[in-house]
Parts: sequence; structure tokens; C-alpha cells
Amino acid sequence: MQNCDTLIRNASLLDGTGAPPQIVDLAICGDRIEAIGHALDYNAAITVEAQGRSLSPGFIDVHTHDDTSVIDAPAMLPKLSQGVTTVIVGNCGISASPVHLRGDPPDPMNLLGDASAFRYPTFAAYVAAVNDARPSVNVGALIGHTSLRNNHMDRLDRVATDSEITAMRAQLQEALDGGALGLSSGLAYLSANSATTEEVLTLAQPLSLAGAVYTTHMRTETEAILDAMQESFTIARANHVPVIISHLKCAGIANWGRSAEVLEALDTARASQPAGCDCYPYAAGSSTLDLRQVDERVAIAITWSTPHPEMAGQTLAQIASTWNLSQLDAARRLQPAGAIYHSISEADMRRILSHPATMIGSDGLPNDPRPHPRLWGTFPRVLGRYSREEKLLTLPEAIHKMTQMPAQRFGIAQRGLIREGFFADLVLFDPDTILDLATFEDPVQASTGIESVWVNGVPSYTKEGATGQRGGRFIPRGRTAWIQ
Ligand code: ZN
Ligand code: CU
Repeated sequence: MQNCDTLIRNASLLDGTGAPPQIVDLAICGDRIEAIGHALDYNAAITVEAQGRSLSPGFIDVHTHDDTSVIDAPAMLPKLSQGVTTVIVGNCGISASPVHLRGDPPDPMNLLGDASAFRYPTFAAYVAAVNDARPSVNVGALIGHTSLRNNHMDRLDRVATDSEITAMRAQLQEALDGGALGLSSGLAYLSANSATTEEVLTLAQPLSLAGAVYTTHMRTETEAILDAMQESFTIARANHVPVIISHLKCAGIANWGRSAEVLEALDTARASQPAGCDCYPYAAGSSTLDLRQVDERVAIAITWSTPHPEMAGQTLAQIASTWNLSQLDAARRLQPAGAIYHSISEADMRRILSHPATMIGSDGLPNDPRPHPRLWGTFPRVLGRYSREEKLLTLPEAIHKMTQMPAQRFGIAQRGLIREGFFADLVLFDPDTILDLATFEDPVQASTGIESVWVNGVPSYTKEGATGQRGGRFIPRGRTAWIQ
């Protein structure tokens, strides 16, 4: 009889491909899946009786802002407790590296922490810090356009000059050489909004040869969303690179009901170029407090405020009435601040979530003292609420969106599937009880139904909580594979 570290018996295997489940045993040896089969004959240090519960590849959170958390809070409980074993950082144009700050980080880089959190002048320094911290989850990293702009420009409310773009591009190339997954942009934010299509298009040139991706928090998600999508497709097409539209949504009341039209535009593009998107399963967004998004018809909750921390948890309407100000004036007084905007229609969100090109990304904000519940709840919410309870998508489909699809699209090698020889990133969960418990009122809550999580073969989490063993590592870019 052969030896192995862990033997999982009688699990309902969801392998990540979207195939229907089958009951198997699985053996883990070191950081790899050693064998999958029936009645496996191994002498195991640990045996887990799965009793028909679901075993899937660990979830890949494709849209995070965990750049500094994976180093400063390496237990990564908000993610590990959901069955997430890999996070992709550096989204929305903001990455913790490579960064040279002059003063405070500009909005929205401040979502990643204050100036003291930005300690990585090069991508190599960031990779070394991740590996030194040994977080509980694996880390893949994008490079943010806004971070690059801030390194090379004296002010962000203008377009970059040719020489500035050249300098930004050299930094991007260096990071790609060091294993970065691609480039992200956040053209909606004032710190990048003055960038032209041409600026991003020129900056993105090194992606193609590297086999890397372009992800984008688009210039707008409101009335002109179709134009913003076209801009994203243009930048990607000109560079022959895949594009991933971040947190695709129809934001703002005037824009509700347009998800069919938006998805049709995505499908049209997909007919001729690799394109996809990610989505979080909530009808509310969250970011820094943006005066352009203040709308008296939309409920806005303040999550933090530097001058008025005592207002966190209150709605902007409550604060405005306390101060006897308009909501816009109250928002001005709260700046800099963070907010949750209940500005998405549930029907649009569901349509986007269930589209075959959509991956799952939490967009959680780990530095927020009162975070949007997506930080702790995204993945169990998709599986429990939207798959089991509402039957919006089948369990194998939902798992596929969290595992193989992101691994292929971002070029994460030997993960995202349960295959012999692949890394043992695994989650065992109860499909009958898995559910998010984090709410807008009480957002810092672990989910229920996650039984065990392994990261690179390391038993990292059980129903009792984190084991204290952390198995994550930095993941360099592999080869992307796009199946439209
Ligand atoms: Zn974003
Ligand atoms: Cu984001």
C-alpha cells in the first residue's frame, strides 16, 4: 500500500469543468493531488470521510483588492472561510506594486491602505513580500494603470505624455517578466478618467507577447455603458489580448433593465475576440464615496470617513438630515470616505451572473471597517442562494465559474480543476447547507457549510475555523486558454 498525506473518501466530485458530480476518493500527497478513483488503497496520515458532500477545486476570487491584506493579514479569513484558495489582486487600476508614492495614495489607491501600506517599489519586491508572508491563499497579481500613472505623473487629471507612457510601459513589462497576470485599469475614477483610449491602448502593448490579459473597471457603468464596453474591446482588439470587464453591472436607476442589451454587446464582441466579465452576487456596489454617484433616490451607506469616522454605518440621507445639508453637500464634508451604493437592480445582476462568460469576483474591500458583505459572503452566496435556492445556475456551472474558467482565462496553471498531478487546492462543502451569513447590517460573518479547505495540500480551514497552517504562495502567470 502506498502512503499519502490525506485521503478523502466518498466525496461528490465537482471537478471544475461543469460536468455532473460523481462519488470518488481522492488522495493528496505533498502539494499535489496524487490520485482520484474508487476505493483508493492508501495508507494516509489523515483520512476524511466526506459522506457524499461536495469536493471542488478551491475557488479563485478573480476580482479582489487584497493586495496589502495578503501580506499584512495573511490569515485571509474573509476569503479562506468561503473556500477561496486563490485571490487575484491589482484590480480596478490600483495595485500595491510597483508603487512610488509622493505623499498620500490618491483615490482610489487609498482603498488598499494608507501610505505606510505601499512598500513595494518593484513588482519583485511585492512577490518577495507575498512569499515571505506566506498567506493562507495563493496570490496572482495584475498591474494597475492608475498606480503606474501615479509613479510617473505629477498630476493625474491630464493625459500622460508619450515619455510618461513609455516609462509606465517599461514598468509594466518588468512586472510581466516577473509573472504578473496582466494590466488593469479603472477609467471611471478621476485619477484615470483623463487618460485617453490611446493612452491605455499604447500602455497595453506588452500584454500580447507575454500572453497576459487586460481587465477593466470601465469608464462608466451608467448611461454610456455601451460606449465604455466598446472602448474596452477596442483596446484589447488592437493589442490582440483578452479583455475581462470587471464587476459588470448596469449602475444607476436610469440604467436599470439594460443588462440584456449589455450582454448582447458582450456576446457580439465574443464572436470576434476573447472577452468576458466578472460579477458579484449583490444588488449594491461599494467603493470610495464618489460625488457623481450621489443620487437622492439611491440608498447610500457610508462605510468610513476620514474626517467623520463616527458616521460609518449611517446612510448619507441620515447624515444629511443630521447636518441639515443636501446629500451632495454632506458627501463633500465626509470626503475622503467610502460608501455602499444600492444602485443595481437585482434582475440585471441575476442575468449577468448567470451568463456563460461571467466569472465570480467578490470585489471585497478588506480595509473597510464596515465592509460590503461581498467581502465575506460572495462564493457561498452564489452556491447557496443563487444555485441551490433560486436555481439560477446548476451547482456544476456555478463551480465552473469559480474554478476552471478563471484559471484558464487568467493563465493560472495546474489549478482550477481536480486532476491527478494538479495542485491540491480543494474545498469540501455541504451543498445542502452552504450559505453566506454576512449581511449589510452585520457584514463580518463567516459563511456556513464550508467543511474543509486545503491550499497546496495544506489543511488550512475546517468548520472550527482556520487551522493556523498557511499554504499559499505567489502564482506567476501561466498560459491563458480562452474557450468562447
Ligand atoms: Zn472596480
Ligand atoms: Cu474593484
